[in-house]
Amino acid sequence: MRTAILASGRGSNLQALIEACHSGYLPIEIVAVGSDQLGTGALQRSEEVGIPTRVFQINNYPHRQAQEEDILIWIQENRVELLLLAGYMRVLGPQFISQVQFPIMNIHPSLLPAFPGLHAQRQALEYGVKVSGCTVHLVDQGLDSGPIILQEAVPVLPQDTEESLAQRILEVEHRLYPEAVRLLALGKVERSGRRVKIL
Ligand code: GRF
Repeated sequence: MRTAILASGRGSNLQALIEACHSGYLPIEIVAVGSDQLGTGALQRSEEVGIPTRVFQINNYPHRQAQEEDILIWIQENRVELLLLAGYMRVLGPQFISQVQFPIMNIHPSLLPAFPGLHAQRQALEYGVKVSGCTVHLVDQGLDSGPIILQEAVPVLPQDTEESLAQRILEVEHRLYPEAVRLLALGKVERSGRRVKIL
């Protein structure tokens, strides 16, 4: 399955996906990595293992749609069959989503639908929940609102800071994202409306 990844930052989830491919656990081929930011960890990690990268810096375009059109062309050029968002910090517009004919997946550091959007771990701490976690979901036109593939809970401890909670969740993310992608690549993800059944 020819896969592209979009990532804006440090790229630890991208790294976990790359490692899962290299170990043979993940039956996909990461053919391209894109970022909306220059000089990110995600780009560096990809280049280190020889994956071609592209930067789609928003300032280089007259408006968001032009940037997304460029991403669409890049996807077509690379004959992509699966798009993974791994810390991609921009919401993809409805036009983009409606033009992509294959699955787009994302990982979010909370138990959705709780705490969508930015700073999910801070939101969880401020709300005072005792359990948070992470969610791998299909991307639809909303914000972190698509059908849920896998979720895993992580405890929130009394002494937690945003950083310590983020770190505890991240360790699960690195396992859960490859697992969810693997299920999808093996044809074991069946969707019926909002509900996803793992076969
Ligand atoms: C992760 O917490 C992920 O859940 C969220 O953004 C963060 C990206 O971290 N969508 P990294 O760039 O993968 O290290």
